[in-house]
Amino acid sequence: MSQEHEHKVAETLDALGRAGTIEAVEAIRIEALGKQGWLSGLMKTLGKMSPEERQVEAPRIQALRTQVADALAERKAVLEEAALTAQLVGERLDLTLPAPEAPKGSVHPVSQVMDELAEIFADLGFSVATGPEIEDDWHNFTALNMAETHPARAMHDTFYFPDQDSVTVPASSSEAVGEKRRMLLRTHTSPVQIRSLVEQGAPIRIIAPGRVYRSDSDATHTPMFHQVEGLVIDRDIHLGHLKWTLETFLKAFFERDDIVLRLRPSYFPFTEPSVEVDVGFAVENGRRVLGGSGDDDGHGWMELLGSGMVNRRVIEFAGLDPDEWQGFAWGLGVDRLAMLKYGMDDLRAFFDGDNRWLAHYGFSAFDQPTLSAGVGAKA
Ligand code: DAH
Repeated sequence: MSQEHEHKVAETLDALGRAGTIEAVEAIRIEALGKQGWLSGLMKTLGKMSPEERQVEAPRIQALRTQVADALAERKAVLEEAALTAQLVGERLDLTLPAPEAPKGSVHPVSQVMDELAEIFADLGFSVATGPEIEDDWHNFTALNMAETHPARAMHDTFYFPDQDSVTVPASSSEAVGEKRRMLLRTHTSPVQIRSLVEQGAPIRIIAPGRVYRSDSDATHTPMFHQVEGLVIDRDIHLGHLKWTLETFLKAFFERDDIVLRLRPSYFPFTEPSVEVDVGFAVENGRRVLGGSGDDDGHGWMELLGSGMVNRRVIEFAGLDPDEWQGFAWGLGVDRLAMLKYGMDDLRAFFDGDNRWLAHYGFSAFDQPTLSAGVGAKA
């Protein structure tokens, strides 16, 4: 009887010696020490023995069990060690190899310029405001003092949505309840003036950069382009504030102290008086470089932006009292600014998505414009 047990143990140890995987070791463990295992069964026979018999058998069976359990643990440890070594060899990384070529993205000049604008105007106490690109005709035209019959509406080459997409002003609104408004793609960033004034009231100092849309397309016009709107409403604001603000901004943006502006009378429905702002430039190596008075020899004036004192009607439309509040506004093409500063000459390339153009004119994501390091990032 006992011979038989010793023989079975020898067989088990032999099988363990040949077990090449942790699964095989586990199968042997279950066969011997599992609930239904033969050694477990043997342990259970102790309970049915007489005390004398048990005194002899218990240490013997216990010793067999220990012998098998120790052998199992040992074999398992050896196999685990081998598996770990194999894994470490397989996962070996040579850190002295150069990093693989990773695809690189770049920041589009329009985004870069918008970041530069935000940085410069933040320093002057402006915050950045936004509005929807799908706009209604009240915010885009009416509240900017362009009534339905106003000829300026026709000049905007507006993309309108079909009539069935018109919205009716809800009862919860502070504006003309029940009025039907046509939906359109905003033709300028000026409606953000109205939205910001209605939402935030006065005093206010904002810039509103973003996309605008007009049904127009050639070398200098694309159906979608970018503008940045500026708005200051406070008490006792006059044209001098406007001129100083634009001058300060343009000097910071072009990183030149010799920027000279010329204000010409003009007309916009939403400003009164309205001024067109020109900037002096010189021609160097066939390229226009901003700086100096346009009246100097070899210089000229370039039209840069539209602006003026916000029309009293606009302040009323936004729900404020124009006897108490007044200010100025301007609108400026962002793409044009980028072209002037970074020397691109075809607007259409901005929106072609050509990787070679982006690699050449794009900016590193690490090249964050800051006033201290200079907003003029290096391309
Ligand atoms: N919204 C005008 C345009 O797109 C630009 C403009 C002119 C904006 C004068 C203004 C402004 O705020 O005062 O042509």
